[in-house]
Order: sequence, then structure tokens, then C-alpha cells
Amino acid sequence: MKFVKISKYSKSFDLECKSIAPDKSISHRCAMFSLLSDKTSTIKNFLLGEDTLASLSIAEQLGAKIERDGAEVTITPPKRIKEPENILDCGNAGTAMRLYAGLLSGFDGLFILTGDKYLRARPMKRVVTPLREIGAKIDGREHGNLAPLAIRGGKLKPFRYLSPIDSAQIKSALILAGLQAYSKSYYRENLLSRDHTERMLRGMGANISTLANGWIEIEPIKKPLKPLNITVPADPSSGFFFAVVAAIVPNSKVTIKNVTLNPTRIEAYKVLKEMGADIEFIEKENIYEPIGDITIRYNGKLKAIRVDKNIAWLIDELPALSIAMAVANGTSIIKNAKELRVKESDRISTILEGLNSCNIKTVEHPDGYEIIGGELQEATIDSYGDHRVAMSFAIAGVLCGMRIKDIDCIDTSFPNFFDILKDITEIE
Ligand code: S3P
Repeated sequence: MKFVKISKYSKSFDLECKSIAPDKSISHRCAMFSLLSDKTSTIKNFLLGEDTLASLSIAEQLGAKIERDGAEVTITPPKRIKEPENILDCGNAGTAMRLYAGLLSGFDGLFILTGDKYLRARPMKRVVTPLREIGAKIDGREHGNLAPLAIRGGKLKPFRYLSPIDSAQIKSALILAGLQAYSKSYYRENLLSRDHTERMLRGMGANISTLANGWIEIEPIKKPLKPLNITVPADPSSGFFFAVVAAIVPNSKVTIKNVTLNPTRIEAYKVLKEMGADIEFIEKENIYEPIGDITIRYNGKLKAIRVDKNIAWLIDELPALSIAMAVANGTSIIKNAKELRVKESDRISTILEGLNSCNIKTVEHPDGYEIIGGELQEATIDSYGDHRVAMSFAIAGVLCGMRIKDIDCIDTSFPNFFDILKDITEIE
């Protein structure tokens, strides 16, 4: 359980970030989806974070041959998915557990998914219930809500499922199951959640289409898919920590290079722009996803904002956005965000506890909170093992100094976070 002390910045900065961590969502999917091909997938710039390495090592336990040269990974799938000799450890990664639950429900064998103490406390019913409805045999603690989950894979029925939660993890689990059902399935959500699964599987040749009425149609795969050949773009959620620093440190600028500009992922940048930061998006290419650079410049004190729409598009950035809100003029409001309660920590309570320690006044609601903009003060913050909470308060530290407990969790998604932060301020 490491501890870090961040010093207040001493001068403004102009940073070109070429080494923001590769996208976590896309890296997880690379590890899993390569199992649906019969040829070798090549993935460049794979995220070497604990979460995505857990997905990769599960693919290996399922029989894939993995070769790694730095961040370049080749994955050769087995002829048939192997029943693993041991339990499959997803670490801290909700994405690994929920997507593998969908994928493995359709394969023959017994698969036991577990994770660290935080993941074992997160709700799994959201995928277990719809998967059981289509014939998956899954059990776990609290009647299947909590990991370890034991999955006895087998035949799956087609489905028509309207999801009560806008969640890419639920959608992806169901799409992966639908690919293995015996006829077409349909999935719908109210707000399109991140759509990497649809884009990547389509790129591999799967027939997944979004119908005019908003339903996603999933055709079962009859033959192995094409392999993936992809360079993973930078993760906009990781880049966002540095976007916030640039927006709050006078006369500063950051450019985040080669990041996915997928509209379901960059909403927080748009909110930061509405708060007054100067932000530019430059699209350079489109491979599975639009990819380009984002430049963020300080543009004076930020204004408070109300965030109550498109929540699924910025759910992971709300901790960092809360730091921008803490120093904005006026009271900012976040609503319709009860999903924050079931992330790597109960983020409503961990963010507010941290902000209150920094002398910022807040009001808590069941599905969000209010932040009364003020002046951040140095404090000692507990991350509660949540990488995004740890990194959010680390960037707050650039303004006022900060001590953060339990920072090991940052390795789950952004192992070189402090190497970049060191270009802006001192770290002990
Ligand atoms: C993810 C989806 C999101 C996000 C998580 C990664 C994914 O969760 O919060 O960090 O890769 O599918 P939900 O869509 O389930 O809210």
C-alpha cells in the first residue's frame, strides 16, 4: 500500500503526451475477441496494466498462445477453448469478469471467475440474470450476484433484451453470448454505451447491426472470425487527468496524442470545454474508431456546470471532472449517476470524502452530488483502492499539494501515470 506526496506546481507547462496509457476497454476486448478467430491476432500498444494483463492471462489459461514483445502482443487462439485447470483471476477488472461471463457461458466446460476483494464486492446480477434467462448456468455468492462466479458453459438461446442500465459491460456480455446462440438476438439500451465491442467485432466480420428502431441485431457466428490487427489508441479516460490539470493551472497546455475520439468516450472533454477550457479535437485516422489528438489549454477560471445527460459517456471521468468542478466558479451538479456507487469504489462517497478533506463543500444525493466551487487545500486522501480516485486527487495536488494513500491501484490502468505527472510537478 504505497503512499505518495505531490507538490504544488511551480510554473505553467506545455506538454505533448505521447505516452498516455493505451485504451483499457479496447485492450480487454483484444484479449477476449481474439479467441473468436482461428488465426493469430496482432495487437500493438496493448495496455500493460494489471487489469488488461489479467484478461490476457485468462485467454492463455483458455488455451491461447500469447507472445509479447513489450506492448506488442500476438494471440493465437486454441482450436477449441480449453477447460482451465484453475480459477480465472480478473484482479480488479469488472470488464474482464462481466465480458468473460458472457463469452464463457457459450463454451463447453467449467469456468470459475474471481477477482480481488473490491471486484468480489461488485454486483454481477446485471449480467448473470440475463445470461441465466438464455440458458447459461451460472452460480455465485448471494445467489449469483457476487464473485466467485462458477459458469458451466453450454448451449445458449437467442434473446430480445432491453437493458435497464446503460452499460457497455452488460451489452458486451450479451453480444458475446448472442454470437453463440442458435439464431438472431436483439439488445437495446436507452443511451448507446461505449461501442467498442460492436465496432471491433464488426471489423472481425461479425454481423452486428444497429436497426433504425435502436435495437442491436446480433447474428450467431457460423465460422471463426477474422483475426484482429490493431494498434490500440490512447485511453481518453486516462488522458482526461492531464486535460483537467491543463484546464486548471494558469497558462498551461496539454496535447494528448493518438487518442480514440469515439463519441461515446470524449463527452467529459466536451463538458470541460463548456466549463470554459479551450479544447480542440483533431481527427487523423479511422481504424475501427476515429483516432486523433486533443489539445486542452487553460482559458481562465472555469464555470460551474450541471451534468445530468449522457452519463454513460463520461462515467469514468466524473472523478477527475469533480476536481475541475471543485475550483470552478459556482455550484456544479451531477445527477442520474447512481452507477458511480458500484464502480471500483462507491465513487460518490470516495470523491466527496476526498473533496471535503480538501476543504471543498459538497452535498450528496443518492444518484449524484453538488460541488460548491472554492479553493482546494492540501490533505491526505484515501483512494480506497480506486485508481481513478487516486489519480484525480494526484492532479488536484498539482494545484495545492496532496498526500495520497493506497496508490498501487493506479497500476491497474495507467502504470506510467507518475512518469508523466513528473513533467509537471515534483513527486515524493
Ligand atoms: C467499460 C464500461 C464501463 C466503464 C468501465 C469500462 C467497458 O462500465 O465504466 O470502466 O470496457 O466496457 P459500464 O458500461 O458497465 O458502466
